[in-house]
Amino acid sequence: MISVSRRLAQVPASPIRKLVPLATAAKKQGVRVYHLNIGDPDIETPAAMMKVLQTWKTNPIGYSQSQGEPVFLESLRWYYHKIGFPFIDAQNIQVTSGGSEGISMALFGICSPGDEVIVFEPFYANYNTYAVVNGVTLVPIRTSIKDGFHLPRESVIEKRITKRTRAILFCNPSNPTGTVYTKSEVEALVSIAKKHALFLLSDEVYREYAYDGRKQVSLLSYMEKIPNQAIVLDSMSKRYNVCGVRLGAIVSLNAELMAGVLRIGQGRLSSGIVDQHIAAKLTDVPDSWMKKVHDEFEKRRDVLYEGLRKIPGVIIPKPEGAFYTIVGLPVSDSEKFCAWLLTDFRDHSFRSGQAETVMVAPAGGFYSTPGLGKNEVRIAYVLNQTDLKRCVELLARALTVYNNQ
Ligand SMILES: Cc1ncc(COP(=O)(O)O)c(C=O)c1O
Repeated sequence: MISVSRRLAQVPASPIRKLVPLATAAKKQGVRVYHLNIGDPDIETPAAMMKVLQTWKTNPIGYSQSQGEPVFLESLRWYYHKIGFPFIDAQNIQVTSGGSEGISMALFGICSPGDEVIVFEPFYANYNTYAVVNGVTLVPIRTSIKDGFHLPRESVIEKRITKRTRAILFCNPSNPTGTVYTKSEVEALVSIAKKHALFLLSDEVYREYAYDGRKQVSLLSYMEKIPNQAIVLDSMSKRYNVCGVRLGAIVSLNAELMAGVLRIGQGRLSSGIVDQHIAAKLTDVPDSWMKKVHDEFEKRRDVLYEGLRKIPGVIIPKPEGAFYTIVGLPVSDSEKFCAWLLTDFRDHSFRSGQAETVMVAPAGGFYSTPGLGKNEVRIAYVLNQTDLKRCVELLARALTVYNNQ
């Protein structure tokens, strides 16, 4: 009998995607499903980027360079300078096929099998995937919905450091919680990393999305203080709304790490060349485009927050950034509730008469401590304000029906 590896069985299904077959079945029955389960916004890609795709002539479509296509590397360097970090040079950037590949390469680059990485739970569920793939153990430190998922005291974090701890990985602004860490929180992490000689990985794919006048505090601000320890993980997907252009970057001043990840990059040959030429046009995306998108997400945040907080039993901290939030619901098993939304719940649209429902992600998969997140869901506010209002209405009705059956 042939069998696949034992470690393959340890790779968890994505909580964001695992209920998709139920959504597909509902759609086959003619039901409209509003997708708030995944961070794939309905906002248009900038015109300058679309134009590259529409006018692409180069034939054949070949490989790019392993570190990144020079024109894209130059655009990234330009971007980091523009946002205030002129010390970033091309040699400090490794282009990756999505931020996702960057997470995996970085974990591989700093951990040996069995090493530990501290994360703050709930955390981006795919960190689990890359931890398993790289033989890394994630050590979760709990944060709570009651205090908006902000970080615990330094001493609480330090208590979890062992001989095997190699790094602290955090996401700022956070997916899934929408928390934007304060300057003192980021500085506390920098100081712990320094004191205990740990790597500090900051996933900043939502850097531009901080609300209510907040400004995200980037690890790039501290990179020169801990040049060999600081690693920034980045992505084009959300900043320019090009999720299908599979590009991200690892940014670090650690020359040994960058030389190593380049060797991994050589092993996988290159990221897509068309993608990189599209993304290189980030230099032509006007600041006004970025502001418009930022303001639109902030308004969506308001629609969702104001709508959900009025529903009895719902707990929602005001999201501070990104376009996600973890919401506490008056249900005992959110996975069952999320599945039921797709299999059973139907509400007829007042406008079209069509049967409708909403898809959200059960939050359990964003925790690694068993049992946590059981009455929470993660919501991505990626739809326009009209659709979002309808989603709030659907969730309110669904909770009433679900809890009275
Ligand atoms: C926190 C976080 N990091 C990394 C990624 C990976 O993004 P991509 O692979 O699309 O660049 C995502 C995507 O949703 C994310 O939310």
